[in-house]
Amino acid sequence: MALVGTKKMFEMALKGGYAIGAFNVNNMEITQGIVSAVVEEKSPLILQVSRGARKYAGISYLNAIINVVVSENPDIPIATHLDHGDTFETCKQFVDDGFTSVMIDASKLPFEENITVTKKVVEYAHARDVVVEAELGQLGGIEEDVVGVEDVGKHLTEPDQAVEFVERSGCDSLAVACGTSHGAYKFKIEPKLAFDVIEKIAEKLPGFPLVMHGSSSVLREFVDLINKYGGDMPDAMGVPEEAIGKAAKMAICKVNIDTDLRLAVTAKIRQILAERPSEFDPRKYLGPGREAIKDMVKHKLDVLGCSGKAAECM
Ligand code: G3H
Ligand code: 13P
Ligand code: ZN
Repeated sequence: MALVGTKKMFEMALKGGYAIGAFNVNNMEITQGIVSAVVEEKSPLILQVSRGARKYAGISYLNAIINVVVSENPDIPIATHLDHGDTFETCKQFVDDGFTSVMIDASKLPFEENITVTKKVVEYAHARDVVVEAELGQLGGIEEDVVGVEDVGKHLTEPDQAVEFVERSGCDSLAVACGTSHGAYKFKIEPKLAFDVIEKIAEKLPGFPLVMHGSSSVLREFVDLINKYGGDMPDAMGVPEEAIGKAAKMAICKVNIDTDLRLAVTAKIRQILAERPSEFDPRKYLGPGREAIKDMVKHKLDVLGCSGKAAECM
């Protein structure tokens, strides 16, 4: 059975100084691109679904796609994860639907309320053998109502609070704010992560898995292709891959990537439609889009150090 929780993955990632790639899925092509990369690289995998993905595709379609992935790949440990669950009810739905991991993101609530709702999710999920990721501190991007890109540094996770939060909430992993943000516009000046925050939290919570959101690198090759073929993303900037690799060697066990998938597929589709304006068969551009995702993910797995780690994470 390849459907697993994240406990063993994180244990091995911490021990081995690597991180597991958590990739967002919204449709069949994106999922197939990711999975074919993981199969070739023999990597463990976290497939994550946001509320937006669920709204777009519908949970029945997403579950059907994920079920095929799991049944066709018994040698790959695959965790299914709710990304940024906003309420207890959303988390409950995903637990009830058979996901092996959920995130409760109550990071925009005051500290005590974040603990209260996280604890409630933990109690429900643990009783059903499901693990829980929580978040403390604030990232930019999807939490714009709270923090803009330029404010990211002001809302970093405070290490002593992280200890209290983990002890009192009982969460299994913690997403920390360490200078990253969601989307394609993460930095206006030189990209810099707060490695000291990761280091301090790891010192105070030895052996506890940390999660890094907003980890896309916004690869130049895709942004350039998008801009070349009619796009308009002049200021796009992401987290340098050396920084991702460094975090993966530390206590960061799960690295969330969505934007890089979007950029890879969009760049390829733009290129094909621009170069072949008479093309109207979706398979002729979605297929290469899927291939572009596969190549990008293979490269990411290498950056994260999790290539070849599938067997030890089962
Ligand atoms: O963290 C956010 C992910 O990129 C999901 O984004 O809510 O647009 O699906 P979404
Ligand atoms: P990116 O926007 O950097 O890909 O981050 C995705 C993410 O954190 C999903 O939860
Ligand atoms: Zn996120």
